[in-house]
Amino acid sequence: MAQVAELLLLLAAAAGTGAAALPARDPAALEAAHFALQAYNAAAERSGPPARLGALRGARAQVTNGIKYFLDVTLLRGPCDLVSCRELEQVSCQFEVWSQPWASRQQLMKQECRPAELAERVQEPAQTLGGLDETPGGVSDAEGPSQPGQNASLQLAALFRDFMSTYGKHYKDEEEAARRFGIFADNMAKAQWLQALDQGTAQYGVTKFSDLTEEEFRSLYLNPLLAKLPPRPMRRAEAPRDPPPASWDWREHGAVTSVKDQGMCGSCWAFSVTGNVEGQWFLRRGDLISLSEQELVDCDGLDHACGGGLPSNAYEAIESLGGLETESDYSYEGHRQRCSFSSDKVAVYINSSVEISRDEDEIAAWLAKNGPISIALNAFAMQFYKRGVSHPLRLLCNPWMIDHAVLLVGYGTRGRTPYWAIKNSWGEDWGEQGYYYLHRGSRACGMNTMCSSALVV
Ligand SMILES: *[C@@H]1O[C@H](CO)[C@@H](O)[C@H](O)[C@H]1NC(C)=O
Ligand SMILES: *[C@@H]1O[C@H](CO)[C@@H](O)[C@H](O)[C@H]1NC(C)=O
Repeated sequence: MAQVAELLLLLAAAAGTGAAALPARDPAALEAAHFALQAYNAAAERSGPPARLGALRGARAQVTNGIKYFLDVTLLRGPCDLVSCRELEQVSCQFEVWSQPWASRQQLMKQECRPAELAERVQEPAQTLGGLDETPGGVSDAEGPSQPGQNASLQLAALFRDFMSTYGKHYKDEEEAARRFGIFADNMAKAQWLQALDQGTAQYGVTKFSDLTEEEFRSLYLNPLLAKLPPRPMRRAEAPRDPPPASWDWREHGAVTSVKDQGMCGSCWAFSVTGNVEGQWFLRRGDLISLSEQELVDCDGLDHACGGGLPSNAYEAIESLGGLETESDYSYEGHRQRCSFSSDKVAVYINSSVEISRDEDEIAAWLAKNGPISIALNAFAMQFYKRGVSHPLRLLCNPWMIDHAVLLVGYGTRGRTPYWAIKNSWGEDWGEQGYYYLHRGSRACGMNTMCSSALVV
């Protein structure tokens, strides 16, 4: 835990108030120093040749809306031949360089220069005659041994650039880009924290949601109604008598359609239910048909379209509408429209729905025997999930705070870690090709609290 606390402190420093010290010879700090030098030369109303960088004596970085570098630098001015620079004037400067990684833009915010004191003087200035990159000896090692997190801000800048190009992110203006970078920095700290506290094998980090605040993420992608509304009472499913196989995966048995994308709409409940009905229809009738979520978003008056809903209500709505159309007949728009359901186009029907046990062994047994299950869970660890078996602390992933509906399609063990395989509806460019793997056997994130299925007879 001490290590975790240290990591958190360093990250907080990088992403928040304090400025973190950078290791000597840090490439980004050198780049900033070089930039400051150019600005200094451009502004200096002096005669004689331009100043050169003698030494970067110290560098710190702070993440604000961009990255601010605080640099202590010794500059060399005056004539200098290739052999010696003894007549050089040495100047000690403090620079503040503000850099916006997304715009590849830098600005000199502050410069304070005075004649260098003895301790600040460069001893062997001839060394600095080459280009910056060839003069590692000109950079002092004042910061001592480096610690993890010291260059967090630099990694952040690189990660943010990658993130923007990977996910094709564009922001309307620089102010917005700066704000998003700040959020990204906070989120990376949060992902590190999740990583440090995870009890499974999951990796957390940059995802397509890394520039959203938790509040934005919740309101755009999650479903607060799951925890607020009582589910419509359903008949209890019969627990299978046979013990479940050690592992099972309905993807290997053709019962699961490809991963879909709910977009910026809290319609996870509709995707969870269509996924379940697709499986039930396949297992009873032999056809795997991709079914319409938009029909539920538009026509299920019991639920709240992009504002959330409950699987138990959605089954009822499907029964009273008379069935579901196919994905291609009633395709997904990601916002509520007028209901244009047509009973002529019904592709599948359901006859009833059942509530499944809260016992994870019984859930596994029901799944292996009967098909993929609609479940709900607390999506706490999902915004920054990349891969592996996620196992957040129970304290952080409260089982009573369920806010996302998904589809349980299988279970098994990776190495020694038992998992549930969960089909999500955030596209294939999230998680493991759109799937989430969650620890099995610890009722992780309340995944056992709202398990249900439609029945086709
Ligand atoms: C700085 O970050 C790079 C990766 O971006 C890493 O390889 C290096 O070890 C880090 N250095 C320190 C001192 O943390
Ligand atoms: C199941 O529902 C369908 C469509 O509503 C209906 O035609 C069928 O008779 C039902 N089956 C049973 C056994 O009730």
